[in-house]
Amino acid sequence: MSNKLWSGRFTAATDALLDDFNSSIPFDQRLWPDDIAGSRAHARMLEHVGLLTTEELAAIEQGLDSIEADLTDGTLAVDPTAEDIHMFIEAELTRRIGEPGRKLHTGRSRNDQVAVDIRLYLRRMTSEVRTAIRSFIETLVEIAAANLRTIMPGFTHLQIAQPITLAHHFSAYAHMLERDWQRLGDAVDRMNYSPLGAGALATCTLPLDPARTAAELGFDGVCGNSLDAVSDRDFCVEICAALALLMTHLSRLSEELILWASTPFGFITPDDAWSTGSSMMPQKKNPDIPELVRGKSARVISNLNTLLVMLKGLPLAYNKDMQEDKEAIFEALDTVLLTLPTLQGFVVTMKINSERMRSVAESGLSNATDLAEYLVRRGLPFRQAHEQVGKLVYYALEQGKKLEELSLDEFRAQSSLVDDSVYAALKIENCVAARDLPGGPAPTAVETALRSLCERLDLSAKNL
Ligand code: ARG
Repeated sequence: MSNKLWSGRFTAATDALLDDFNSSIPFDQRLWPDDIAGSRAHARMLEHVGLLTTEELAAIEQGLDSIEADLTDGTLAVDPTAEDIHMFIEAELTRRIGEPGRKLHTGRSRNDQVAVDIRLYLRRMTSEVRTAIRSFIETLVEIAAANLRTIMPGFTHLQIAQPITLAHHFSAYAHMLERDWQRLGDAVDRMNYSPLGAGALATCTLPLDPARTAAELGFDGVCGNSLDAVSDRDFCVEICAALALLMTHLSRLSEELILWASTPFGFITPDDAWSTGSSMMPQKKNPDIPELVRGKSARVISNLNTLLVMLKGLPLAYNKDMQEDKEAIFEALDTVLLTLPTLQGFVVTMKINSERMRSVAESGLSNATDLAEYLVRRGLPFRQAHEQVGKLVYYALEQGKKLEELSLDEFRAQSSLVDDSVYAALKIENCVAARDLPGGPAPTAVETALRSLCERLDLSAKNL
């Protein structure tokens, strides 16, 4: 009959289709380091409260150590027919050390076991994601620092709006990613409570010491309700939501990089090593990386949806539906961990065509607001200034001229407040430099913002 650890009350072996359908080992095997860590802490606690002898604990620890070593170096392969990673490790332990292995599951259920495993796993993976986000931000800051005076057009409605700098633009993304970094940290803080001791749903009658396992595993405490402890997957949702938003940010950046790499824009030239060609059109060089980032964001957004829909109809406490949490959150993490360094590589190596950016910024009458504010400084109410500049814009467009190409007489035909100083006010560098309010595009303002961002993230503000 079945070699399943729960087969006592069964009279027949399980159907092969059930085994396939039920099994989570193809995807939950990546939890093995966390499963071993959880079991180690649980065994030490059992010994402390007298449910294991010192010798039994020593055998269990030695068995878990050897399984860990063998899984690490590949001597031991995960059995693909095992039901899940928890069953596999427990069975392997008992195979190796005999009797004491059968005591490991005392006071524990796979329900609190899997809940602790995912938390441990997500704790270490979010830390990797946060490191990758920091590194991405560092790249953005470095590019920004080198481009504090690289003029580019700022857009609204994808129409040229006002002049900004590339530094200002990249600093916007650095600030978005900082929030992603924070959000993941917040989610981990809320997740960091131990479900061990909750058992299947209602704790147990044995004198366990959950606070001890919690402390040993680096949790901030024990979950306050055993039903919640085993049925809560809020932390998967929160982390996945943070990842979906991160991917949304990266997708927005990607959309811009794709536009910027197009011939009509010409703002950037992707590096050959980070672009692809066409099988038919010999001249093509395509920005596949940002396109794929934009595409892959759909996956992570869908992973969040999968988790929410999976949870929304579940009664307390554990239900097998919850096994479906893993592929969703794992795929989200894998996607993000692949995306961040790849997009970073694209961004670091792309060539920035500053002259092209500047000439586009100078077109489209992007200094019209500056002219209106020039008139405001000379006492004209803004609404009237807007009206007068609107007329000048119309006139300039008719003449095929930029505003700064109008003569003083042409200006004064519309507004007597204009004098020679208008030409300095319309000069693109001055338009940018004059917007030096906090958060603005002036090189000084961007530099200040980037410095404090670096301080918050403990990044070396190189070149700033
Ligand atoms: N593989 C299961 C999961 O990932 C482990 C918990 C199973 N619990 C149970 N009562 N059958 O959710």
